[in-house]
Formats: sequence, C-alpha cells, structure tokens
Amino acid sequence: MVLRISFFIVSFLLLTACGSGASDNDALPNETPEEKGENLFILNCASCHGEDGKLGSSGAKDLSISKLNDKQIEQIIRKGKNAMPSQEAILETDENIKLVIEHVKTLKNKP
Ligand code: HEC
Repeated sequence: MVLRISFFIVSFLLLTACGSGASDNDALPNETPEEKGENLFILNCASCHGEDGKLGSSGAKDLSISKLNDKQIEQIIRKGKNAMPSQEAILETDENIKLVIEHVKTLKNKP
C-alpha cells in the first residue's frame, strides 16, 4: 500500500517536472478557481498590465479603472486590441478565459 502511494507520488512528480502534456496554465493541486484566475493573470497578463492591473507597460490600459463589461473584456482577450495581442490561444480554454475575466474584475477600484 505504501509502495503504491509512493509510486503514485513519484509518477506525479515526473509528469509535472517533465511537463509531458502539462502546460504552465494547468491548475496547481488544491487551487481554487479564484487562485487559478489570479495565476493565469500573473502568468499571461501581468507582464504588461502588472499584478494589480496598473502597470501600463507597452501602453496597456489600467485595468483598475477599466469600465468594460464581461463581454467587452472577453472580446479584447480573444481578439486583442492595438498593442495587445490576442490571448485566446495562450489561455487555451474557454474556462481559463472565464477565470481570467473574473480576476480582472477584482482589480477594479483597488487602492
Ligand atoms: C503585450 C502586452 C499585453 C498583454 C500580455 C496583455 N495586454 Fe491587455 N492590453 C494591452 C494594451 C496595450 C491595451 C490597450 C489596448 C488599446 O485600447 O489600445 C490592453 C487593454 C486591455 C483591456 C481593455 C481595458 C480598457 O478599459 O480598455 C483589457 C480588459 C485587457 N487588456 C486585459 C488583458 C488580459 C486579461 C490579459 C491576459 C490574458 C492581457 N490583457 C494581456 C497590452 C497587453
């Protein structure tokens, strides 16, 4: 029984370490949807927008004062806009896009 469990842990570590089929966007163990949305944002958006959405690198809009609704945010993520490239392929799944939109909304009006 102990052997079985250690085999499971070792194969899990090997899988994640070698990244066979795994992507940076994959959920970490025990990650809540909110945490996943935040991590996806940090991984794919923060280089331009900053973790708090205010960085404004490469002309990125300040997300803390953005007034866009869900549909408009989704449109920009999927299609990109001016200096912002489409993030659709990078985020990989509709679920990931949804989680990122939820996170973008939490950045609004933070001090
Ligand atoms: C390469 C830099 C870059 C990356 C990466 C990037 N953005 Fe942007 N983003 C921009 C720029 C530049 C704009 C301004 C586009 C314009 O209106 O001219 C923008 C605008 C936006 C807007 C519209 C804000 C408004 O009020 O008009 C949203 C929402 C947004 N980005 C979300 C995201 C999300 C979510 C991600 C990650 C999945 C992301 N961005 C990744 C550069 C980037």
